[in-house]
Amino acid sequence: SRGGPLQGRKVVVTAGGTREPLDPVRYLTNRSSGKQGYAVAQAALDRGADVVLITTVDGLPWPSGARRVAVATAQEMLEAVLAECQNADVLIMAAAVADFRPATAAGQKIKKEGGAPTLTLAANPDILLEVARQRQRLGHPQVVVGFAAETENLLQNAQAKLARKSLTLMVANDVSATDAGFAVDTNRVTLISAGGAFETLPLMSKVEVAEKIVDRIVEILAGTEEE
Ligand code: C5P
Repeated sequence: SRGGPLQGRKVVVTAGGTREPLDPVRYLTNRSSGKQGYAVAQAALDRGADVVLITTVDGLPWPSGARRVAVATAQEMLEAVLAECQNADVLIMAAAVADFRPATAAGQKIKKEGGAPTLTLAANPDILLEVARQRQRLGHPQVVVGFAAETENLLQNAQAKLARKSLTLMVANDVSATDAGFAVDTNRVTLISAGGAFETLPLMSKVEVAEKIVDRIVEILAGTEEE
């Protein structure tokens, strides 16, 4: 066995932007690279956890030892997350789930000869809200971590989101800064606990942010987190 403070714990991590099909060759997506989620998966592995990485991403170095579940759409991610969370200790929802998908995906490639189509969107399920519902019934996962990408009122918006989604911990990210957030290797985040305590971390690598997040989870599971 590998040992470490998360030995025997099942940690589920999601990463990447979901891809919502328009037709067989086109999809809507967002700027998420998956890097922060992959770094979190690696940090959990390093602390001995059994890690399931639910990912939309190809081509990032794989955190060796994690079990891979490949998904594309929000609906597929929802199904994978609910299935894996039934016996999980921790869910870390680092994926950027598309809020909307094309209401219908055409069965055949949309042809330009038909003129510019009108795109009708439909709302995707909120995965964390569905997890909160299942968690009330099953008691799993004990710890649920969400991310908030905000461009204004970072703390207020993130705190409201933490409450609405019944999270244990919120990782709040100011995406208006150019040196942090999407696609770069650095991040500047504030960790907010369910109890209301918050800690703003300096600009650091996504690997270091991941280690901070996972160390906080270790404290929460051990019941030693300071409020
Ligand atoms: O509400 P908002 O998208 O800002 O919240 C971000 C958090 O919620 C992230 O942890 C993201 O993975 C999760 N989320 C979700 N299902 C959605 C949208 C976001 O679980 N449909």
